[in-house]
Amino acid sequence: MRATQKLMKVFVTRRIPEDGLRVLTESGICKIQQWDSDEPVPKEELLKRMSEVHGLYCMLTDKIDSEILQAAGPSLKVISTMSVGFDHLSLGEIKNRGIRVGYTPDVLTDATAELTVALLLATSRRLIEGTEEVKNGGWTSWKPQWMCGYGLAGSTVGIVGLGRIGLAVAQRLKPFGVKRFLYTGRQPRPEAAAKINGEYVPLHELAEESNFIVVSCSFSSETKGMFNKDLFSKMKKTAIFINTSRGAVVNQGDLYEALTTGQIAAAGLDVTDPEPLPTDHPLLSLKNCVILPHVGSATYATRNMMSVVTANNLLAGLKGELMPSELKL
Ligand code: NDP
Ligand code: DGY
Repeated sequence: MRATQKLMKVFVTRRIPEDGLRVLTESGICKIQQWDSDEPVPKEELLKRMSEVHGLYCMLTDKIDSEILQAAGPSLKVISTMSVGFDHLSLGEIKNRGIRVGYTPDVLTDATAELTVALLLATSRRLIEGTEEVKNGGWTSWKPQWMCGYGLAGSTVGIVGLGRIGLAVAQRLKPFGVKRFLYTGRQPRPEAAAKINGEYVPLHELAEESNFIVVSCSFSSETKGMFNKDLFSKMKKTAIFINTSRGAVVNQGDLYEALTTGQIAAAGLDVTDPEPLPTDHPLLSLKNCVILPHVGSATYATRNMMSVVTANNLLAGLKGELMPSELKL
């Protein structure tokens, strides 16, 4: 870049993996400011830092709403989020302002699908409860009817949202001997479904028929609170409910009731509403509910790749070029 050209101002809302930061620093086209912490930037601080920013490198924990966009003003050309989910971005206003958006599909699919399978098995085979029993002396001997759970062989698995992650989960579950895959979404996905012999069914039918229900849909006003009292009451008493999508697709009060009254057998959640879940939340008192701290994509390699894709999206947006992964608005 010629010395006469002005550097573009970029704000990075968190400490990020070195690889991603290096892509930005070595580009030579931007002046980087960063919130140098592993914890989110407070909103007041973010508002201050947005002034005259051209590019924003953000996380799913940064709510980019009209106040933030207003604070940035017309200089803001690109928002690049280090996530595939984009429910934290006010897309309507972003579009109206002509701002481009980058995100990170594909690079996190394998890691998230793996974690989903791990959570499903931990929940259905009661792994966390079992290790607790080993530590607290509850393990007194091998007992014929103790610590039994539910197996995948011969089961019906329902996938809510047969997208990138939903399909990758189903493909990983298939070798366990799953008998039937059901799926639902806004429309049939014949190409993806063919890979797992999946049958497209309405949500209520999926709820009624499945032994395992895996939620891997995106979050929107349509999916908000989708898993409620009515739907839990349709599920089998032996059903295992797994959610790695977004916490707010579930009505957590209704889930608590379903888990404590035996409406369903168990739940595994990688995502909650809010995050973090308060440590005195009722769901945390239940043995049949396994809760993880939103770690679906948390492998070193995946987070590195996500940081690099986010950086490359941002740079391409600043230069007015094609992004590696641009969200179509
Ligand atoms: P995709 O866009 O590939 O898949 C999203 C799926 O959601 C699509 O199959 C879509 O199906 C479905 N969907 C959308 N609206 C509805 C609806 N109303 N009812 C049922 N299904 C619906 O995204 P990814 O698979 O890459 O990611 C999915 C989500 O997983 C992300 O949006 C994010 O929230 C979450 N995620 C969580 C992670 C974690 O750490 N726990 C890690 C990564 C992602 P159709 O279009 O057919 O309706
Ligand atoms: C995402 O990318 O949307 C996940 O929730 C975190 O990787």
